[in-house]
Amino acid sequence: MMGYTDRHGRYVLRRLFPDALLYTEMITARALYHGAPETLLEHHPAERPLALQLGGAEPELMARGAGYARQFGYCEVNINVGCPSDRVQAGRFGACLMREPERVADCVEAMREAGLPVTVKTRLGVDELDRYEDLLRFVDTVAAAGCRTFIIHARKAWLNGLDPKKNRSIPPLDHARVWRLKRDRPELQIVVNGGLRGVADCLAQLAHVDGVMIGRAACEAPTELIDIARVLFGRPPPALYDVVADALDYAAAEQRRGVPLRRVLRHLAALGRGRPGARRWRQALDQAAVGRQSLAALRSLAAELFPAA
Ligand SMILES: Cc1cc2nc3c(=O)[nH]c(=O)nc-3n(C[C@H](O)[C@H](O)[C@H](O)COP(=O)(O)O)c2cc1C
Repeated sequence: MMGYTDRHGRYVLRRLFPDALLYTEMITARALYHGAPETLLEHHPAERPLALQLGGAEPELMARGAGYARQFGYCEVNINVGCPSDRVQAGRFGACLMREPERVADCVEAMREAGLPVTVKTRLGVDELDRYEDLLRFVDTVAAAGCRTFIIHARKAWLNGLDPKKNRSIPPLDHARVWRLKRDRPELQIVVNGGLRGVADCLAQLAHVDGVMIGRAACEAPTELIDIARVLFGRPPPALYDVVADALDYAAAEQRRGVPLRRVLRHLAALGRGRPGARRWRQALDQAAVGRQSLAALRSLAAELFPAA
């Protein structure tokens, strides 16, 4: 998720959710081609398993991006066929690629050369191309090129008229359509995304599909999902104090590498959400980010606000 799952956000998410597969923000294949891949793709090994999400529609550039994914230790490369932003549409990738399944298939085929699994994240449809048959045609065409896993954001996108934010709330969710896809294509891995907030939501979906992808809830209200370790993976969930203490050590190490503290600490604010002292926690993080409070003081406050259960 752009603006959330940068490498520091993923480091914290990994501590919260030891069993999850994490995804990068979308990185365009062009940026990798023209920019410095080592800067765009570097990450802490603790973040793994980690999938690289690429935006793009040119098979050669996408193949090059997949090669980098492998070189830099990612376990999967994912194609963004869900983003409706104007900027992405202008580049003719993202959700508008639902209109061009053959092009996506060409990308998949070229990217598979790198030897990593190539997956696709998409929507139920775009604009008037929103019948179940349209989705099936897209999935079948792309699957024929060797994509075995589809992550489906269970709503369509309106490419003209709705901005990305509205495209994440106004088109109605239709999880049942994703379940139907799994019933019709049992040989594919179908992962559902959209509107899942808590562990109960995830369990309800997993009766119908192979996996769940969680976006906003993981960043905005992660503690509501923390029990997922126990429920799905049979292990005790991490203690919040330990997550914070580890993240503060990480923040200090990153600071020594020249990373501003704020860039790490901002990812800790959501841990206080809904708890007594949430405001104090946010204020303390803000103060520490500008050097008006020490990391040791933050750690003491964390011991008070996140006591062991
Ligand atoms: C701020 C923000 C940034 C996002 N960036 C991406 C992105 O880079 N790639 C992507 O596939 N989806 C992106 N999304 C969409 C989410 O991955 C997800 O599909 C959508 O929010 C619905 O799932 P949710 O209800 O669990 O959040 C973004 C969503 C938000 C709110």
